[in-house]
Amino acid sequence: MKILKPKQIIVALDLDSIEEADSIVKFLDPEIFRLKVGKQLYASEGPKILENLNKKGFDIFLDLKLHDIPNTVYKALKNLLNEKLWMTNIHLLGGEEMMQAAREAREHVKSDALLIGVTVLTSLDVNHIKNMGFGIQISELVNILSTSAKRNNIDGVVCSAKEVPEIKENLGQDFIAVTPGIRMQQNKDDQSRVATLKEAIRNGSDYIVLGREITASENISKMIKKVESYIIQNNE
Ligand code: C5P
Repeated sequence: MKILKPKQIIVALDLDSIEEADSIVKFLDPEIFRLKVGKQLYASEGPKILENLNKKGFDIFLDLKLHDIPNTVYKALKNLLNEKLWMTNIHLLGGEEMMQAAREAREHVKSDALLIGVTVLTSLDVNHIKNMGFGIQISELVNILSTSAKRNNIDGVVCSAKEVPEIKENLGQDFIAVTPGIRMQQNKDDQSRVATLKEAIRNGSDYIVLGREITASENISKMIKKVESYIIQNNE
């Protein structure tokens, strides 16, 4: 069943080096997949990993989930956007002034990178957020943070696929939903609010992040072919 458009899948390169990243990237076509560079790979390779992947023609989502005082986020983002990025993100718990600072940084460097806000990590469940002092349901917190992101002209959110229908209904179809915690089949590791690929598409996710499903699979090329079988190819 073909349910995905090209470039809706973002492969998370949660790895330690360019060499390790290359062992996955060599199986991927930049016309079909986008890539996510997160803290792990950025911490070991720095900006040169972005340059390397840009040269290969990939759209890059730099996932550093910036969360700091507005001035620091403004300056960090200005520097990060020196490299060409398709998408990057902040953590919405940093507050509305921080969201505005992030937007101003993007405007300042005239970048067209999408700016996305992390709502509640998909590894957290209701007990975790209760222990943090939030006496509300996760969906409510996701809703509050997403609404505040929209109000501050953030382009969309990272959330669980389960939360997408409500977000789209409240904030409009154009408000981007990026969903990690996706499994080909239902199972759990440290992700709590997981969904399957089919469920994510059905719920209206714009972009689906696949990490360990690909990087930790025993046969990476076979797994990538399996994922590709869900994608409508341009020539079909
Ligand atoms: O391996 P797995 O598919 O669980 O990877 C999920 C990826 O998405 C990781 O790179 C993680 O940092 C990221 N992520 C997440 N939850 C969020 C935001 C990002 O799991 N709310």
